[in-house]
Amino acid sequence: MKPTLIKDLLTSQPDGRTVTVCGWIRTKRDSKNLVFIQVNDGSCFASIQLTYDRTNPANGLDVNAVEEQLKKATTGASVKAEGLIIPSPASGQAVEVTLVKLEVLGECPTDSYPLQKKNMSMEYLRENAHLRARTNTFGAVFRLRNQMATALHTFFQERGFVYIMAPEITCSDAEGAGEMFQVTTLSLEKIAELGVKAGANGMKIEDAAKIVDYSKDFFGKKANLTVSGQLEAETLATALSRVYTFGPTFRAENSNTPRHLAEFWMCEPEMAFFDLYDDMDLEEEFLKYMFNWALTKCREDLEFFEKRIQPGTIAQLEHVVNTPFKRITYTEAVAELEKYNDKFEFPISWGKELQTEHERYLTEQIFKSPVMVYNYPKDVKAFYMKLNEDGKTVRAVDVLVPGLGEITGGSEREENYDKLLKVCEERGMDMSNYQWYLDLRRFGSVPHSGFGLGFDRLLRYITGMANIRDVVPYPRAPKLADF
Ligand code: 4AD
Ligand code: MG
Repeated sequence: MKPTLIKDLLTSQPDGRTVTVCGWIRTKRDSKNLVFIQVNDGSCFASIQLTYDRTNPANGLDVNAVEEQLKKATTGASVKAEGLIIPSPASGQAVEVTLVKLEVLGECPTDSYPLQKKNMSMEYLRENAHLRARTNTFGAVFRLRNQMATALHTFFQERGFVYIMAPEITCSDAEGAGEMFQVTTLSLEKIAELGVKAGANGMKIEDAAKIVDYSKDFFGKKANLTVSGQLEAETLATALSRVYTFGPTFRAENSNTPRHLAEFWMCEPEMAFFDLYDDMDLEEEFLKYMFNWALTKCREDLEFFEKRIQPGTIAQLEHVVNTPFKRITYTEAVAELEKYNDKFEFPISWGKELQTEHERYLTEQIFKSPVMVYNYPKDVKAFYMKLNEDGKTVRAVDVLVPGLGEITGGSEREENYDKLLKVCEERGMDMSNYQWYLDLRRFGSVPHSGFGLGFDRLLRYITGMANIRDVVPYPRAPKLADF
């Protein structure tokens, strides 16, 4: 008989019918007459309790067989049990299962099982990333991750957006920041060998780069992993009107922080015929929808995070859902912040990028609400953003939330061919890789806008987990690619 998921058993009628439970043992209490086993299958936060009363075994229970299995039924062991589902006399659980049959599928040696320790640190659990999903914390994280991905798709699908998959391998640098992982089949060892020979033959060091022949590389030119699917999303938005990407993104930033991953998931909606203000409306609606989904559909897991990981998380999410987002220009934001420059590690002045300390001060202290800062100086933002009439600022917007700072970043895109080309040239970009992008401005160009949400940062915010490495199954960061 195939097992019923524990989440379904816990909410079903305790009518005495026979059920099959499969999962991993969380705890076992074995006193003289009574045995209680908590079994968890990850389908929900709670475990189900199997009970066995030696003075009153259930009909059909083979005492010797069950006692034999109980010896092997330690914490972490996997089991298949059959029993009768009945109302539980114990508090804190509506139902329990009276054991009829027990089979230990996989034993779990107590002396070497890594999850036996008390008070395991997040670092220790990261070293055991292949097992950590069996803990309460990581079970909750991964269920929530699944829920938020579902929320994301539901939001866009309900609004007529088309889900598109941007390529992972590209020849362009969408953010122009040069933080890319190169993709190559050229052999570094072979190139080093050629270099040594060339040196022996008198080749000068300044000509060393010529040894690398990209025409012999897999794609016939230099390629890399994508830092953003935005440019490709623009090509499809200017055909399908409203699209979104949702996929892995890679950045080779040497940032060893609790907010950065080298591989993370990003969602990038892109909308034709949207200006910056339409973009901001959508960002606010989207974030509120996502948080509201977490608050209403993931309550059991959220309450665990509130209690055990970060008190105050639920109130913070409710605040964001219930408060209109304040909208101010960068120039206004800087004027406000300058009044408090003595409080900052990096004093702010017009023209500088906002640091996290400034972002948090705006949302937590000055406005006490989520804040959208727009119209940033062009020099601190990416090349593709639309230039304002003042010639100094671009139509960029960052959404700032309390406890975090920037959660999403977006912009209206430059749709004028000549203006875009000028910026690209000013920034010294290799235009051979962007001709297709410029074409969108040559053939039926339209105003369009979009934004990007770092999905892992969103999860970190909702769960209150201190480190972004603990909201992904297998984190990738500088010097970290275990498993
Ligand atoms: O602000 P960013 O760099 O914007 C873009 O990539 C645009 N192409 C978005 C767009 O307009 N379509 O990145 C967007 C978001 C950030 O707000 C942040 O949440 C997340 O991506 N992000 C990271 N998350 C985890 N680790 C990193 N190293 C991240 N870098 C950015
Ligand atoms: Mg940004």
